[in-house]
Amino acid sequence: MVDPTTVQRGLESVVALESRICFIDGKEGRLIYQGYDIRDLAASSTFDEVAYLLWYGRLPTATQLDDLRHRFRELRTLPPELAAQIDQLPADANPMDMLRTSVSTLALFEPGETKPGASSIGGAQRLTAVLPTILGQFHRRRAKLPPIAARPDLSSAAYLLYALLDREPTELETRALDVCLILHADHELNASTFAARVTASTLSDLYSSITSAIGTLKGPLHGGANERVMELLDEIGTVDRVEEVVKAKLSAHERIMGFGHRVYKVEDPRATILREWARRIGESKGNLRYYDLLRAVEQVVHREKGLYPNVDLYSGAVYTQLGIPPDLFTPLFASSRVSGWTAHVLEEYEDLRLIRPTAKYVGATDLAYVPTGQRG
Ligand code: ACO
Repeated sequence: MVDPTTVQRGLESVVALESRICFIDGKEGRLIYQGYDIRDLAASSTFDEVAYLLWYGRLPTATQLDDLRHRFRELRTLPPELAAQIDQLPADANPMDMLRTSVSTLALFEPGETKPGASSIGGAQRLTAVLPTILGQFHRRRAKLPPIAARPDLSSAAYLLYALLDREPTELETRALDVCLILHADHELNASTFAARVTASTLSDLYSSITSAIGTLKGPLHGGANERVMELLDEIGTVDRVEEVVKAKLSAHERIMGFGHRVYKVEDPRATILREWARRIGESKGNLRYYDLLRAVEQVVHREKGLYPNVDLYSGAVYTQLGIPPDLFTPLFASSRVSGWTAHVLEEYEDLRLIRPTAKYVGATDLAYVPTGQRG
């Protein structure tokens, strides 16, 4: 029995459930999806394959992977009503608000998937396939680009880049984004995945669970940190100012985004991989400014606070160098994490138990009720 007088603030160290999907070794800096090390997946796999792995618990055969890619390409199209709704939103709408609202609207057109407790893998595939189109529809309208084409010839990563940039991505750019999508696909019981599982645990449906997750990912302590990393780099400007700016922020007890993690006590393995990609993409564009700035920030933060980079430190630099606008970084994260969110929701349905923790009450209990007119 848990001691009701001890509060685990932020549920830190609380083991809430069993899962086969993702393992984080925070002391060794390892991240495992369904038994496979993230470093091997980032080196050799693709996002499509990783999505299959998260859902089915095994790597696909060549035929299974082809089938999934075919499904993704079929499922990319939006209902015309949703496309029209996105076109009517304010062009300056927060893209995460747009995404959350769009997934919620999509549910109205896919009633089979939204029955309470509906646990179809089809819904997981539909959501993973369609999020890039939702982002593309929104961004292309505000950027005054021509309407999005289906592009069944493109992989998920290449389609996302085409949808956002309106040009053919290079092989290197596609691979960089594919690696980013792989690295963000799942991360055990992070806040947004937990939110998705809490919603699913009430026997609510997959789309409601993903709507909860998107709202949770929006917060800057979770999904929004990489956007703020890029703001910091803009503020710093040049490498010779890193020491002064970072130290001033730390003295003012400000958090430096892209550092620290609830679970990793060493470097986040995703940061190690993304650092290399920030360098590679920077080199390919002939500009290592972001890479050099981030290396310098890393050194100061580690020396002053002993903190290690998390996934968000270098991802913003990769996205910026790919030409992706900063307010789409978190929606892009969602486009990848939807594979993990849906895998967790499906797992929750398999072994469902209502998630309902308890609170230590610290308020009053014996106040006398005073009628409205008699209150001072
Ligand atoms: N900058 C400066 N100090 C920090 C940072 C940081 N980024 N992160 C932690 N610390 C300090 C805290 O101030 C605290 O110091 P104190 O003990 O002197 O008060 C100590 O480290 C412990 O911090 P906690 O907030 O207790 O650690 P927690 O596990 O709750 O925080 C979190 C994890 C929220 C990610 C935190 O490190 C943070 O705010 N980082 C910046 C935001 C960020 O990068 N988020 C992305 C996370 S990865 C993801 O969600 C995809």
